[in-house]
Amino acid sequence: MSRWLVTGAAGFIGSNFVRRVLEVRPDLHLVAYDALTYAGNLANLDGLADGGRMTFVRGDICNQQEVAAALDGVSVVINFAAESHVDRSIHGGAAFVQTNVGGTQTLLDAARTAGVQRYVQVSTDEVYGSLGPEGRFVEDSPLQPSSAYSASKAGADLLVHAAHHTHGLPTIITRCSNNYGPYQFPEKIIPLFVTNLLEGRSVPVYGTGQNVRDWIHVRDHCDAVLAAAEQGTPGRVYNVGADSEKTNLELTRAILSGLGCDESRIEYVQDRLGHDLRYAIDSSRARQELGWQPQVRFEDGLAETIQWYRDNQDWWRAIKTGAYLKYYELQYGEKVEE
Ligand code: NAD
Ligand code: DAU
Repeated sequence: MSRWLVTGAAGFIGSNFVRRVLEVRPDLHLVAYDALTYAGNLANLDGLADGGRMTFVRGDICNQQEVAAALDGVSVVINFAAESHVDRSIHGGAAFVQTNVGGTQTLLDAARTAGVQRYVQVSTDEVYGSLGPEGRFVEDSPLQPSSAYSASKAGADLLVHAAHHTHGLPTIITRCSNNYGPYQFPEKIIPLFVTNLLEGRSVPVYGTGQNVRDWIHVRDHCDAVLAAAEQGTPGRVYNVGADSEKTNLELTRAILSGLGCDESRIEYVQDRLGHDLRYAIDSSRARQELGWQPQVRFEDGLAETIQWYRDNQDWWRAIKTGAYLKYYELQYGEKVEE
């Protein structure tokens, strides 16, 4: 049975990936590796070890010994582990450089020593920076990251490229647009707004709400990463997206309507520093070369996601407490009682 290492497996996308791969690839064993930072949550993996095909290992991708031990017998590495939130990187970038840049290099070195057959780096469209009103990102678009988060992800991509170029490590980079779906940490716009509304609170829209993001359901992203791992050409980059651009205000209105709320619940707050205006991704290469295409319509995916947060209130209420509320006060200047 092949053994794959999935880092960041207790986070949003990593845990959805583990769940999906266990479902569709009965011949794989997954080593689910995660440091369990504030964003990592073992509840995201509840029940998945039961079939005996997933082993959870608590470890840091920056720790050489821990990574080397986890790689024993592994043929494929999928690196989801990262500090992932732009707003937190504006408050301080050090953890982003440490994990996203330093951790990636540690993984690459260990993967080379272990002789893995594939190393997949899960990157982001944010490495391309911001678009104006026209055009879409292609794989050859210049890297022009705007935040410490996106700059650290771009740095990681360059290290992955170097490991392929210099050592022939069979690497693949995927760059996906904004994900939504179950198990997303409620600091990102969709789960933050849905859970605030379920709590009877307002939703903080940055600036005028005219910034555009290109949305994809997490299941579609996971399928693209799996296809890239199995069918991607080493050394290549694949953009992943679902052609679903929305202004933040359009998105907010869709969430309000899905929860039966009106626009009085919108609170326009101070804009994000250095806020990228627009992301839009051209994923033709992934569709042509990986035989992949997104399956979830945004309207259906959003309705399903809202329902998930309605049905899983214990999950997010356990997160929106303690350190989360301290962060909320720092970011939004609003004190929320537990
Ligand atoms: P997340 O914050 O929900 O999860 C990140 C996970 O990584 C957490 O479980 C955390 O505990 C773990 N982690 C952090 N530092 C670690 C370390 N040093 N060692 C081991 N584990 C560590 O993030 P996410 O939204 O699931 O994103 C996963 C990956 O996908 C990231 O690399 C991100 O850049 C990329 N990505 C995210 C999106 C999106 O819309 N969320 C889009 C494109 C790409
Ligand atoms: O594009 C891919 C990226 O998408 C990933 O690489 C990141 O890991 C992921 O966090 C996401 O980054 P964004 O910054 O686009 O996501 P976020 O949910 O933080 O913000 C989405 C948009 O919503 C952005 O324009 C800022 C706005 N926003 C966000 C928050 C949290 C608000 O207006 N209010 C908010 O409170």
